[in-house]
Amino acid sequence: MKYQSHTVAYYHFVAALLLLALQVVAGLVIGAQYVFPDFLYQTLDFNTVRTIHINLLIVWILIGFMGASYYLVVEESETEVWSPMLAHIHLVAFVLGGVAAIVGYLLGYTDGREFLEQPFIIKVAIALVVVAFVVNVIMTIIKGGRWTSVEVVLVLGLVGAALFFLPALGNHVGALDNLSVDKYFWWWTVHLWVEGVWELIMGALLSFLLLKLTGVDREVLEKWLYVIVGLVFFSGILGTGHHYYWEGYPSYWLWIGGIMSAAEPFAFLGMTIYAFSMLEKAGRAHPNRAAIYFTLGCALFAFLGAGVWGLMHTLPQVNKWTHGSQITASHGHLAFFGAYAMINLAMMTYAIPAMQGREGFNKRTALIAFWLMAIGMTDMTLALFGAGVVQSFMERYNHMPFMDVQNQMWLFYAVRLAGGVIFAVGVGYFIKAFFERGVPRAA
Ligand code: HEM
Ligand code: HEM
Ligand SMILES: [Fe+2]
Repeated sequence: MKYQSHTVAYYHFVAALLLLALQVVAGLVIGAQYVFPDFLYQTLDFNTVRTIHINLLIVWILIGFMGASYYLVVEESETEVWSPMLAHIHLVAFVLGGVAAIVGYLLGYTDGREFLEQPFIIKVAIALVVVAFVVNVIMTIIKGGRWTSVEVVLVLGLVGAALFFLPALGNHVGALDNLSVDKYFWWWTVHLWVEGVWELIMGALLSFLLLKLTGVDREVLEKWLYVIVGLVFFSGILGTGHHYYWEGYPSYWLWIGGIMSAAEPFAFLGMTIYAFSMLEKAGRAHPNRAAIYFTLGCALFAFLGAGVWGLMHTLPQVNKWTHGSQITASHGHLAFFGAYAMINLAMMTYAIPAMQGREGFNKRTALIAFWLMAIGMTDMTLALFGAGVVQSFMERYNHMPFMDVQNQMWLFYAVRLAGGVIFAVGVGYFIKAFFERGVPRAA
């Protein structure tokens, strides 16, 4: 290994993958409960496992971002991590905090605000972990002596993610005891993460991968990157309004949220065109084919999941019927998977063999993983989309009782569960590819 401190990225990736595996197991449990409602009833109840599923999602994605960031700054700045010790400490702290939160959910403690259910003390611990991480990344870049544009955008995203975590603490200090006010700021974390600052992180990681995989000119790449950053800021911030339709805020949000969020897909479309055109331009394909698949897969599925599936229900005229239905879940899965799961998997697929001085993972195992995950998630998305259309018509338009409609949707849920099983096998293959070449050793 050229840089000894790439072990920091490696252990972050190991932790992220193990938590991904647990997330998917939790997903299978709640997916099964939709099909067989008595499954694990009163042992592992739906609400508890759902909380665990989405918390593990956020934690593994964040840990993946941390590992990917450490890998990126070491390569870009051509220097070792400022403090590998600090990085290992905050990784252990984050994993322990996450596990403590999950044990709490199993014992019945939840703060009850989706995605942000962690008790106050754990939220404070997470905030400290993030500060330690951001300081370590910035110090590494300073030590290296120059800021590349990719690093500027990455740090902008990371600092933004840290700042927009702060509104998540609001209800604990008693500031937000009105439900409408609470929700208003809840979206500052949830929406401004996935449709704001995380997009910058994704843009930076994608650029880094394209630099490595295509050897394309840095200047061309930087122009694209800045256009994408501009599009994110332009549309994403006021786009928050697409969550402000039915929560008790002034009606101008119908206009602002509808129009501005309808512009958000351009940022994702930009990234897709960018990735495909860079690879086309490069002509000579990098030998790590799996990394190319995951990189292009990320660009494509992010555009479909966030851009197309988001646009579909973002106008108030549509959202009025689909709000909180399975259409939302369909979009939530494809967007999170396409944008943030795939960018992490792409970074791992590139970085791990590179650390080991190899060209790629076992190509067959990694490509099987890619296809199973892509097919499984497509199945889940389409099944939930079908369920959502039926639900919007029968329950919202025809005013049929909620449970009667749910009974009609059994087949869709069964198909979704089948997709989940395919997806889970894909995750198994990915983990096999990750570990089968052994642990990278310091040179
Ligand atoms: C990678 C980026 C994105 C991710 C990860 C994502 C994820 C999600 C998730 C998980 C929810 C459900 C939130 C809840 O629990 O209530 C949601 C809701 C929503 N998303 Fe996205 N999203 C992304 C981008 C977009 C974009 C670009 C648009 C619009 C073009 C959009 C439109 C919406 C709308 C309108 C809702 C509310 C649905 C409802 O009323 O039930 N999303 N998103
Ligand atoms: C084996 C695969 C999976 C299955 C069976 C599964 C199943 C489920 C189920 C049943 C829910 C609860 C929906 C509800 O409240 O009605 C859920 C929520 C969610 N899952 Fe998964 N999941 C899986 C994998 C994933 C993956 C890989 C991701 C992201 C990369 C993900 C992201 C989410 C999100 C964001 C939510 C909240 C969505 C919302 O409220 O709209 N899941 N999942
Ligand atoms: Fe949003």
